[in-house]
Amino acid sequence: MRGGVIAIDGPSASGKSSTARAVAESLGFAHLDSGSLYRGVTLVALREAARQGQTTGNPLAAVDPETILRAAEDRGLMLQPDGAGFTAYLEGEPVGSAIRGAEVTANVSAVSAVPVVREWINSRLRALVRAGRDVVVDGRDIGTVVFPDADLKIFLTATPEARAGRRISQRGKRVDPERLEAETAALAARDHADSTRPVAPLRRPEDAIALDTTSMGFSEQVRFIIELARPIFGNA
Ligand code: CDP
Repeated sequence: MRGGVIAIDGPSASGKSSTARAVAESLGFAHLDSGSLYRGVTLVALREAARQGQTTGNPLAAVDPETILRAAEDRGLMLQPDGAGFTAYLEGEPVGSAIRGAEVTANVSAVSAVPVVREWINSRLRALVRAGRDVVVDGRDIGTVVFPDADLKIFLTATPEARAGRRISQRGKRVDPERLEAETAALAARDHADSTRPVAPLRRPEDAIALDTTSMGFSEQVRFIIELARPIFGNA
């Protein structure tokens, strides 16, 4: 029997991961951040490309996807139980900030458009749910492709400027007009790549509840989802 599933999808910097983590903690579920695995595979791809002498740009120009996935397995890229949720590990250590760098962010959309990469990650996410854990999973295709029978589906959005402002603040920087313009453009490029790829594009699942968080506080959006979840999971 599979565990309960809450799917949270949405564009970059819509607050999916932090919201998913807080909802999971409150309900006693485990949080699965699918983006951390896409970022982990991209980090492995960049390291493999560097071994081939290509130190910048799309790693797929230097290494084929099968080699990347073999390296990911050899180096133990996986989600491991860690407190209330799961954390991406690589070479026996939590990957931490290594997957949040500019180089990974610039190349993750290209790597995640590759079908075998998606299959590799999806099979890992599904295995964790088959093991019976109740989970909150966040990503781009969780409610459409990975868990189309999720018990509750949320689609988080916010205006591009609000999302860009949050991402800049997360980095501890001041939100000035120049940074806001550059970050809004970077997010728009990634949203475009994620929404227009042929395999598992970012889109709102028809049966998802849309939540625009542009003018919502963080605790308000977390509470909103928990209120939706309680009647579904009863004792949660
Ligand atoms: O945190 P942020 O919104 O920047 O992104 P993320 O959730 O860490 O995901 C990074 C990238 O991984 C996205 O831009 C997508 O290209 C890809 N991704 C995906 O294709 N499918 C998912 N389920 C999750 C992430």
